Amino acid sequence: MNIRRPDGWATRFGLIMAMAGNAIGLGNFLRFPGKAAQFGGAFMVPYLLAMVLLGIPLMWMEWTIGRHGGGFGHGSTPGMFHRLWRHPVAKYLGIFGVLLPAMVGVYYIYIESWSLGYAWQTMTGAYWGQTSNEEMEAVFSNYLGMNGGLFSFNPHSYLFFLATFAINIFVFGRGISKGIEIVAKYCMPTLLVIGIVLAVRVLTLPPMDGRTIGDGLAQIWRVSDWGALLKSDVWIAATGQVFFTLSVGLGMIHTYASYLKKRHDITLSGLASCGTNEFAEVILGGTIAIPAAVLFFGAAQAQTIAKGGTFSLGFFALPVIFQQMPAGQIFGTLWFLLLFLAGLTSSMAMFTPLLVFLEDELRLTRRQGVTLVGVSVFLMMQPIILFMHHGMVDEIDYWVGDFGLVLFAAIETVVFAWIFGMARGWKEMHLGADLQVPRIFYYIMKYVTPTFMILLLAWYAYDGLVARVLMRGVAAESQPYRWLARLIIAGMAGFLVWGVRFAWKTHPKFFEEASRAREEEEP
Ligand code: PHE
Repeated sequence: MNIRRPDGWATRFGLIMAMAGNAIGLGNFLRFPGKAAQFGGAFMVPYLLAMVLLGIPLMWMEWTIGRHGGGFGHGSTPGMFHRLWRHPVAKYLGIFGVLLPAMVGVYYIYIESWSLGYAWQTMTGAYWGQTSNEEMEAVFSNYLGMNGGLFSFNPHSYLFFLATFAINIFVFGRGISKGIEIVAKYCMPTLLVIGIVLAVRVLTLPPMDGRTIGDGLAQIWRVSDWGALLKSDVWIAATGQVFFTLSVGLGMIHTYASYLKKRHDITLSGLASCGTNEFAEVILGGTIAIPAAVLFFGAAQAQTIAKGGTFSLGFFALPVIFQQMPAGQIFGTLWFLLLFLAGLTSSMAMFTPLLVFLEDELRLTRRQGVTLVGVSVFLMMQPIILFMHHGMVDEIDYWVGDFGLVLFAAIETVVFAWIFGMARGWKEMHLGADLQVPRIFYYIMKYVTPTFMILLLAWYAYDGLVARVLMRGVAAESQPYRWLARLIIAGMAGFLVWGVRFAWKTHPKFFEEASRAREEEEP
């Protein structure tokens, strides 16, 4: 059976740009440099290993699950899992693939809007004259409106949030070929050009206080402390980064892939999107923030800055550096524009699974779907913005962007490689393939990836899950807000459970199947 769906990718270039845009995001330019600087060269060893053993196999699996499910008219994982595994529980496990990306989107769009706001502030020179890290940190809390009041609110930044939100809804509301693909086709090449310009600028910076840009590159590429590899935290951080940067374990790749036709290539295109992401991450992302910070501040201080959090390199240290560079205002504006484009091409993928779930399974029209998603996401974002200072972003990020994606990736590898079966999976993946994947990946996907995933999950359960559940170390006055964050996730999950039940009871496509199965059973 091959059900024709109304929308789809117009060109292969557009598809690859959209898939690469989905993967290339704030993770490449903020999170990666932060993690790599924190751990030094030792980070790259587990990172590259996890890329080959987990990242690339998961990417292929998700493209395959997506195209397979799309052939039955399913654009989101509840239906896709139902087609892989005829067990009543399969469709409920698939809910993660709608819940996780939507909940990531709820805070991701807000962060994305900061880049737009900072691009504006840099262009207008609003913070020029704040020349130390500490001063830039103050600029940042002021931007977020965190000044000890009940709410985190700054009308200026709220305006940028509204603009970013509207752009996102507008783009994904226009669908795949008319919205997402067009934006990706123009924004991704622009992003790559800006990235290359910035990387070249950093590489040609003159030496400072006896330090050269080579010292900065060594911070990522020279393993100075092999002993660090014996500790688990660098392994966990590197593996987590691989998931995060490729956008696997979420459900968004599946939805994009569901628009492929039966004989569209998966293996080469999937690898190409991983490759483009890695170029943007290790080559561009690795060349901009860290080497510049090492050059200006020295290796030790750059590391301290990176430990300060995901935003300290990109939002505090780099603006300080731009102020000391000739034409720094231009390069600074380009930097935040780069972040914004990277964010936009990822966030426009995040609500697509939810939207197509509403369309495919609950049979809403596109208009109804976009309105429902737009209104509900807007409402969910308000407490997250206003109570930012109570760590609501951090709470949601842990449950969905950290633990959640590892959990879902573990579930899907088992469903794909063991329940659907690796032999069938391998065949499905190679339908129309432009690249024959070396046989060793058959065994990696069957044994290594699932084992790695389950060990990782066990590690999460052992390390910190209980402390997280019990909110250890969270200030008492912030706990109600953290609970509110959980309530939002739970509310969304509840809605999806209802949605799946409703769809499978009332949709002719399942209803007929179920009655056929019943007839076969009855003598
Ligand atoms: N991969 C994208 C990034 O690097 C998007 C993403 C965000 C994926 C959050 C997972 C979680 O930013």
